[in-house]
Amino acid sequence: MDPTGTQRAPHRWTWVDVDLDAIAGNVAALVEIAAPAAVWVVVKADGYGHGDIAVARAAIDAGATGCAVALVDEGERLRASGVTLPILVLSEQPPEYADRIVSAGLTPTVYTARGVEAIAAAAVRAGTEIGLHVKVDTGMQRVGIAPDSLNELLVSTHDMRGVRLAGLCTHLALADVPAHPATTEQLAVFDRALGTSRRAGLVDDDVIVHVGNSAGALCHPAARRDVVRTGIAVYGIDPSPEAPLDRGRFRQAMRWWSRASLVKEVAAGSHISYGWRHRFECDTRVATVPVGYADGVPRRWSEVGGTVLIGGRERPVVGVVTMDQLMVDLGPDPNGDDPVSVGDEVVLIGNQGLATLSVEDWADRLGTIGYEVVCAVSARVPRRVVGSGADPS
Ligand SMILES: Cc1ncc(COP(=O)(O)O)c(C=O)c1O
Repeated sequence: MDPTGTQRAPHRWTWVDVDLDAIAGNVAALVEIAAPAAVWVVVKADGYGHGDIAVARAAIDAGATGCAVALVDEGERLRASGVTLPILVLSEQPPEYADRIVSAGLTPTVYTARGVEAIAAAAVRAGTEIGLHVKVDTGMQRVGIAPDSLNELLVSTHDMRGVRLAGLCTHLALADVPAHPATTEQLAVFDRALGTSRRAGLVDDDVIVHVGNSAGALCHPAARRDVVRTGIAVYGIDPSPEAPLDRGRFRQAMRWWSRASLVKEVAAGSHISYGWRHRFECDTRVATVPVGYADGVPRRWSEVGGTVLIGGRERPVVGVVTMDQLMVDLGPDPNGDDPVSVGDEVVLIGNQGLATLSVEDWADRLGTIGYEVVCAVSARVPRRVVGSGADPS
């Protein structure tokens, strides 16, 4: 994807196709489920590896009313692409970013006096006023102000030129384990802090309150406040095995595919790849695929049961994955009814015929979460947007 989010001609035998119809359908489902809360779409890390600008545009067309990013650079990219809706920066940034936050019209999250002062000073320099979102740490213990210190920060914000309180938020640590009591506890801590600040006249009704991520929005109605900040569900990926998406409503947007670059016979007793860790027990055929760990396939993929789809069938990756290539055991073809040739499609993530390899299959084998799988697909793999929202240029 080029910086404007438009399609670039694929230049390698590997592509990630991002289905904008799936993104739009997933956002429409979130809008319906979270209502009356608004949906802000989280497109940090290049839209979880899907392409931030294309995803943001499709999501906005489908009803999202804001975006969220992790980095100032990410927010500036979105703004430059023409997004006019709020763009929330999810964590406080180093003070030296304050002028850029103000000039790009981003919505800063803050939780320290230093953070508030930096934005206020930048806003005054620019002759404007910025709406701040203050994050309360209700138990995630990553970022945020302690509930007991909230009012002090809000008083100083109230008295400062250049800033006003526009939002109050927190982040849930265990929303994706719906039965866990932590979410109820965090919500109670948040509501106590919010109540105290409201009673002190520091939070008025115009302040936007937001708590839920995807799992919060989907599994915890009490976490749907004025806005939900949804990422993973937008991409059609389960927040966790305990919080799977309704597959009648959500569809995986990413399809990662390649082509066989070499197909050959190998003999029983021979070995393959660095370290010769895999030995063939029988004569078979091997396909080489020009995708490797520099593209985001873990080096140990074969050792955790990693597979790809070729000819509508799941086939094991054999030997360690190398930087740019991996090898697949196609199995013998004694009857000649399983032909595989150079140029044949190889699916790493997605469907092929009736066979599927989902992001969740990858996460399960690797002992991780879908977020890490899609974010690991490196920038070296061309992204191509498909679907009715795709720009044909
Ligand atoms: C503060 C915050 N809000 C929302 C999200 C979106 O979470 P999810 O992708 O689970 O919807 C994230 C993602 O990490 C986050 O850090």
